[in-house]
Amino acid sequence: MTQASHDWWRNAVIYQVYIRSFADGTGDGEGDIAGLRNRLPYLHDLGVDALWINPWYPSPLNDGGYDVADFRDIDPRFGDLSQAKALLDEAHGLGLRILLDIVPNHSSWDHEWFKQALAAEPGSPERARYIFRDGRGPNGDEPPNNWRSVFGGSAWERITEPDGSPGQWYFHIFDVSQPDFDWSNPEVRAEFLDILRFWFDLGVDGFRIDVAHGMVKDMTKPDIPYDESGLLDRPKIADHPFFDRDGVHEIYRGWRELADSYDPPRLYVAEAWVEPPERLARYVRDDELHSAFNFDYLKAAWSASDLRRSIDESVTVLASVGAPATWVLENHDVERVVTRYGREVTAAGEGSSRIADGPVDERLGRHRARAAGLLMLALPGGAYIYQGQELGLPEVLDLPEDALQDPVWERSGRTRRGRDGCRVPLPWTIDGPSYGFGSDGSWLPQPDGWGALSVEAAEADPGSMLHLYRTALRMRRDIPAAEPVDWIQVDNPDVLAFRRGTGFVCVVNLGAQPVALPDHRQVLLLSGELTEDGMLPTDTTAWLAT
Ligand code: BGC
Repeated sequence: MTQASHDWWRNAVIYQVYIRSFADGTGDGEGDIAGLRNRLPYLHDLGVDALWINPWYPSPLNDGGYDVADFRDIDPRFGDLSQAKALLDEAHGLGLRILLDIVPNHSSWDHEWFKQALAAEPGSPERARYIFRDGRGPNGDEPPNNWRSVFGGSAWERITEPDGSPGQWYFHIFDVSQPDFDWSNPEVRAEFLDILRFWFDLGVDGFRIDVAHGMVKDMTKPDIPYDESGLLDRPKIADHPFFDRDGVHEIYRGWRELADSYDPPRLYVAEAWVEPPERLARYVRDDELHSAFNFDYLKAAWSASDLRRSIDESVTVLASVGAPATWVLENHDVERVVTRYGREVTAAGEGSSRIADGPVDERLGRHRARAAGLLMLALPGGAYIYQGQELGLPEVLDLPEDALQDPVWERSGRTRRGRDGCRVPLPWTIDGPSYGFGSDGSWLPQPDGWGALSVEAAEADPGSMLHLYRTALRMRRDIPAAEPVDWIQVDNPDVLAFRRGTGFVCVVNLGAQPVALPDHRQVLLLSGELTEDGMLPTDTTAWLAT
């Protein structure tokens, strides 16, 4: 292995497989390893470098598999370890690397350790793997403090002791079925190193780390003065008791040593919703994790000034620790970009934007999503594509209430519908049962007409989003990876234009009027058509050879 091949991740495009919704190979209505194996050629043709697979461990699926009952096995709904091994071999044979999702902050309440904790006494070593506390008030009837779950409601749940009496409370940042581990316990630390080793030994190339900014807590902190912060948003308080605490970095230094002891070294990607970018950079110092999702970019408005700010800040701050930037528009926790940008109204010329409350304009959203895709893939560093993004799938906003599965729905008192709308199973064919997803329906209902957005339909349309992504991913390999963003001065605040090296220019018009293209030898790729007189229209990106 050369140094360059060890650094593959610095410039990689990683495709996120939400396995339950990707492809159903067994016909039970849920995606699985068999389905993914069948579709590996599709991913290879798309031109991505690696896959990140959402949790596939045994789980009651109360939180889509982020409630893990056994970290060293695979849920029978998704397959088994021998199929996982076959998947790894086949993917590697196609030059695709595989990242799994590790969930170290919590387990499922079905995990053996949690069952043992419930059966044991307060103060026992079994309880010490989780965060159990006595309640407040004369009979311990009140939760230990006012901390809230990010899914809504209290972050504490009371148990019944083995003798039938009302008992202690356990802490859960997320659903009640997801008790948090106590990371001050050396046994928990050792266990996770061993779990990582288990999968690395099987041939897994790395991990996306769920809630990488959680794990370490200061349970002595007082009540939190809450405002109405949203899902996965941390309340904006300094010295937060359970997010982004400095102690977490020591854990990652140990994890990095383990990853580096493998040949080739294994990779870690942090899911850390922290602010400002300087805090994120701490996770990717050279003896910690390799890279981190850039949620600042994901949240940026469709406006030239906000995108430019985010790009500049990300590149500068990450470069200060020697880490590459990453770019992400979608994942399984956020609204699909077609819908998000179809809602957003940009006040052209002012470089500002606001979110419209009105109906989504999907045509507009898709047009912008194409431009946004090309912008993202023109930037230096790594990029992430969430399954279906390459098809331009919108958020499904009208799932029937009785179909909703995200715990956010119930925990928010049915005020937040949650994240199911971006998790609807993929359409592979124009017609047929479950539009080619599997043979027998799907675990979330697919909307009527979903087949018009299928891979089959996109293959047949040379102007489809799929062809755009495929071409962009192929051409991206020719953009010199080491060349930074070199902004071109343009006399229009709604236009982004930058050079990478001497031969490549990317221009995005986010303003209301068409603009002239800068000098160029050749138009390489466009997210939409030029005007009749060769101008770049609103919400359009061009890649140019100069
Ligand atoms: C995952 C979510 C999950 C949560 C709890 C997140 O950050 O991406 O899907 O609900 O962690 O594990």
